[in-house]
Amino acid sequence: MSLTRKSVWWRDAVIYQVYPRSFKDSNSDGIGDIPGIIEKLPYLASLGIDALWLSPFYTTPNKDGGYDVANPRDVDPTFGSLTDAEELISEAHTRGLKVIFDVVPNHFSSEHIWFKEALLSAPGSAARARFHFYDGKGSHGEIPPNNWNSLFNGPAWTRITESNGELGQWYLHLFDSSQPDLNWDNPEVLEDFKTTLRFWLDRGVDGFRIDVAHGLAKDDIHADHRDPDALTRALRVDSSGMSKEERISLLTDMPFFDRDGVHDIYKEWRKVIDEYSGDRMTVAEAYIYPTSRLARYVRPGELHQVFNFDFLLIEWDAAAIKESIIRVLDELKDVGAPPTWALDNHDSPRVVSRLGNVDQARALALIAHALPGSLYIYQGEELGLPDGELAPKDRQDPAFIRSNGKDLGRDGARVPLPWEASKPNFGFSSGSPWLPQTAAYKEFSVDTEDADQGSFLNLYRTSLGLRKQHTGLGGDSEIHWHDAPEGIVFFSRTAGFILLANTTANTTEVNIHTAAVIIHQSGPGAFIAGSIVSIPGNTTLWLQQ
Ligand code: GLC
Ligand code: CA
Repeated sequence: MSLTRKSVWWRDAVIYQVYPRSFKDSNSDGIGDIPGIIEKLPYLASLGIDALWLSPFYTTPNKDGGYDVANPRDVDPTFGSLTDAEELISEAHTRGLKVIFDVVPNHFSSEHIWFKEALLSAPGSAARARFHFYDGKGSHGEIPPNNWNSLFNGPAWTRITESNGELGQWYLHLFDSSQPDLNWDNPEVLEDFKTTLRFWLDRGVDGFRIDVAHGLAKDDIHADHRDPDALTRALRVDSSGMSKEERISLLTDMPFFDRDGVHDIYKEWRKVIDEYSGDRMTVAEAYIYPTSRLARYVRPGELHQVFNFDFLLIEWDAAAIKESIIRVLDELKDVGAPPTWALDNHDSPRVVSRLGNVDQARALALIAHALPGSLYIYQGEELGLPDGELAPKDRQDPAFIRSNGKDLGRDGARVPLPWEASKPNFGFSSGSPWLPQTAAYKEFSVDTEDADQGSFLNLYRTSLGLRKQHTGLGGDSEIHWHDAPEGIVFFSRTAGFILLANTTANTTEVNIHTAAVIIHQSGPGAFIAGSIVSIPGNTTLWLQQ
């Protein structure tokens, strides 16, 4: 094993996503907060991660978990104060952790001062021009300007009452009606975001995760989409009931996502980032199709990373996994950006629940942990947490509310973390948690898993520990694929690293044509005789040549 590590930190960083509301509550109001994150920094550092990404904690009426920002340059009192945010940055830095904040440029909250001004101003005014306000169609303007749907169901348009008390213009909101879309054709919007970026860069943040990065530029607002309801379904992570071909055709050309204009915007952002020293970075959330378009966001002079959502959706199938890895690496090769990998985030079912099989989730994790580039881990993923079970009355996601419960929404992945098995609310809060925890979370608590060598937590700790030392993990190096029986993933990397994964349910023998030892495994029962590795079903092995 070689001990030399490489270049710029973010190119193969392990980045842990904190969803502040559900991480750790410090003041018993049942809502996680920044002092709670500071309290748990030793835990985070002990995982062997390189950086934290915090979902929004800015001033918000909380209609969409804080992705409805009323002031991007201040902290919501629920989460603490600006001083707490500054302390978090410096405390994390003291522990050698970088800090990435979320920015939400597609929309503001309707509580933002700009939107309040727009409502009080006349149609056609400068205040309205910061958003997408249009007259409706029909003889009384009663029909929305186009037929687009909100991603959270229902129309993407809401009609306002003008100051004279009459029904008036409509405004666009791709998400909840409390999240009016910003008009990025207006230079004032860009200037304001530059101010926000500098505000946090001046306070020491190391990077930004860009929410709905693909949404800022829109096609002609006056054109209808051919089938807006089907497009809404296609955009859901769970777009069941639709053929793959239909889904792909709908996602390939969306009037409000992945328009060419977004790239001019990110070239401007990049100039701001480059004003600062210290290898600051940006990562785009861009849920688009085909994935080859993702490379456009990370061309030289644009952003640094783009999320790859493949593993949030992938089947536990060797051929699918191999196809995905090859494609993702290939698509990014020409632009020189590192790939990213993630099994979970705050918008998707947790991997254990999605696959419905803990062994498979462990084995998939060990594949992701071994790949080149950067790895994102969502809080609780390291515990193997399943989705929380919630009664309809507890659900708060606008996607649930706007669909009248047809779309269960994302609350299941946002249930607060269990820290200590024997404490009230498993140590998350001494008050009443904002989403009730599932009783079964007890056995997933950090203290329980800490004490269990075979736990998910210790699986992750071992992976991340090895990643820090071994040049065959993370990094930029290529992957070499080897022939293997059906259902087996078999590749090697530099410094003698070999990965074998068995996606079938049955023990399989694989000839790896070399002697090797097991350095890490997702489950027990493997053994090696000469160059023959016997690998149990639903298992991944890391081998050292
Ligand atoms: C992103 C966020 C999601 C949010 C949406 C609207 O997809 O990850 O949580 O609801 O943007 O801001
Ligand atoms: Ca709190």
